[in-house]
Amino acid sequence: MKISKFLLILFFIFSANIQKSFSDDDKMIKGLEIFNEIAGCAGCHILKAAGSEGNVGPNLDTVSLTEDSVKEMVTYGLGVMPAYGEENILTKEQIDIVSFYVANTAGK
Ligand code: HEC
Repeated sequence: MKISKFLLILFFIFSANIQKSFSDDDKMIKGLEIFNEIAGCAGCHILKAAGSEGNVGPNLDTVSLTEDSVKEMVTYGLGVMPAYGEENILTKEQIDIVSFYVANTAGK
């Protein structure tokens, strides 16, 4: 009885963790979709890995950026760049994923 309860708790902890975190591969696939389709970043930015050729904003392959700096820019925007977070265009999770994607593909 005690052992089965213990196993049950372990199972819940384990499955909660699986649901919470996407694998890096998932984030790369979902991030590409957000970049090109859901958020339309591709319409304004060049990013070779995504095959995008927009030239309203800076070429993301040639600026220096980090996952945090992308997150900041996508959340708050600047000038023509939309504030996806503040205006609830993307969820926080989508912003995390697209920032991970851009930070890991820019310049590659
Ligand atoms: C309507 C056009 C437009 C869209 C859509 C857009 N951006 Fe931008 N973005 C810009 C412009 C313009 C700037 C430059 C802002 C400035 O410096 O005044 C910029 C700046 C940035 C920067 C900072 C680059 C640097 O110089 O360090 C990042 C990173 C970025 N955008 C990522 C994204 C991502 C990711 C998305 C999609 C979620 C996106 N952008 C969607 C126009 C856009």
